[in-house]
Amino acid sequence: QRKKDFSGKKILVTMGPTQEALDPVRFISNHSSGKMGLALARAFAERGAEVHVVSGPVALDLSQDQFSVTRVHSARDMHEASQALHPQMDICVFTAAVADYAPAQVAEEKIKKKDLAITLDLVKNVDIAKELGKTKRSGQLHVGFALETENEEENARAKLDKKNFDLIVLNSAREEGAGFRHDTNKVRIFHKDGKEFKSGLLPKSQIAELILDQIKTIPVWV
Ligand code: PMT
Repeated sequence: QRKKDFSGKKILVTMGPTQEALDPVRFISNHSSGKMGLALARAFAERGAEVHVVSGPVALDLSQDQFSVTRVHSARDMHEASQALHPQMDICVFTAAVADYAPAQVAEEKIKKKDLAITLDLVKNVDIAKELGKTKRSGQLHVGFALETENEEENARAKLDKKNFDLIVLNSAREEGAGFRHDTNKVRIFHKDGKEFKSGLLPKSQIAELILDQIKTIPVWV
């Protein structure tokens, strides 16, 4: 029997990539599979929480799980769905790899091939975690992720501050077996008070358990 140490807590988990449409048949996206988010959603649910997942397009079967799932495509839709849930949540975990930019215009018809190169105009997407971070109420916890390829610790700590996270989970795109698509991950977890926790390379299910254990060390929890 698992310990139900998150019972009574309401959790939002964003996961997967977003897809930003170019035309009816094409989009801009990234390699996120949703595996890290799913591992977290399952860990919270198994430990007694009420879990709400907002997921970009992923190939995972979420139908047998004990949580609500809202499926979205674009960053804008993910923002809307997350914003609607946010006020009721105790903990929000932002694992989604949200596209930072979207095509300025979505062509109504398939864009025709030209003889020469074409240029795409991109506009900045909403930063979901940052926007929700502005309305974080006392007692509410926000956990961010950072996927970095350089200046990893510095960039992660900057995001922790800028997006008003309580802790941030850094995974490296350069580390073997970590980050996108793998069933394993290796993380460094930075707390707002400067504390750091490092994991080994472990299945994402075990990384999720470690993240929950770290959340429980945040003073507001006690
Ligand atoms: O899905 P998997 O294949 O299992 O891979 C897991 C993962 C690598 C996607 C995951 O572990 C991870 O690192 N997710 C965050 C990746 C990312 O896009 O990080 P970022 O540094 O761009 O964003 C920082 C934080 O802000 C993240 O919590 C992100 O969800 C959030 N964000 C970013 C941009 C944006 N427009 N809105 C956001 O909410």
